[in-house]
Amino acid sequence: MDEREWTRRNFISTSLAGGAAMMIDLPGISPSGEGRETAGESHRQIDVVLTVNGVEHRLPGLDAHTTLLDALRDHLQLTGSKKGCALGACGACTVVVDGRRVNSCLTLAVMNQGKEIATVEGLAKDGQLHPLQAAFIAHDGFQCGYCTPGQIISGIACIAEGHAHSGDEIREWMSGNICRCGAYTNIVAAIRDTAGGRVDVG
Ligand code: FES
Ligand code: FES
Repeated sequence: MDEREWTRRNFISTSLAGGAAMMIDLPGISPSGEGRETAGESHRQIDVVLTVNGVEHRLPGLDAHTTLLDALRDHLQLTGSKKGCALGACGACTVVVDGRRVNSCLTLAVMNQGKEIATVEGLAKDGQLHPLQAAFIAHDGFQCGYCTPGQIISGIACIAEGHAHSGDEIREWMSGNICRCGAYTNIVAAIRDTAGGRVDVG
């Protein structure tokens, strides 16, 4: 493949997969580098098992380069997590892995085996919205809605982490989630309300 045909996305995916192969023992890819791919070779396929919202999903023959975000969206049809930048800059792809916020565009699916992955699809229970989902509606915390799943997942984690005591604190700890529509004031109000505080967060 002509070098110029490589997109930035291709480059990052390959770089991430190379890094992962050095850090962990990927099935079929030795830590020594034997069997590791170089640009232009066909992608290696591996069997991956992901636990998402308490449900185990088997993904046989998954391209080893597949990000967690692409596995969720393209292979499990869990399209709530959005792809904004694919560079770790916008937070639209935020999920919670073992209790911690993660940009799912920056981690490979294979690296998340054996972990509990929580996405926006798992929030509503028995037809009842999660309190923060309801608060986003009550406070008009969105316009186009593209950033909203990431904002809500991140907001729930922000509250659970104990970082929702004031508007300033919420703004600081939600700074990784970008809203191009500029719905920030109402997003902060929804989080503060759900956290049990005064909604005046100006
Ligand atoms: Fe992952 Fe933007 S899509 S941070
Ligand atoms: Fe449109 Fe946030 S509501 S990007």
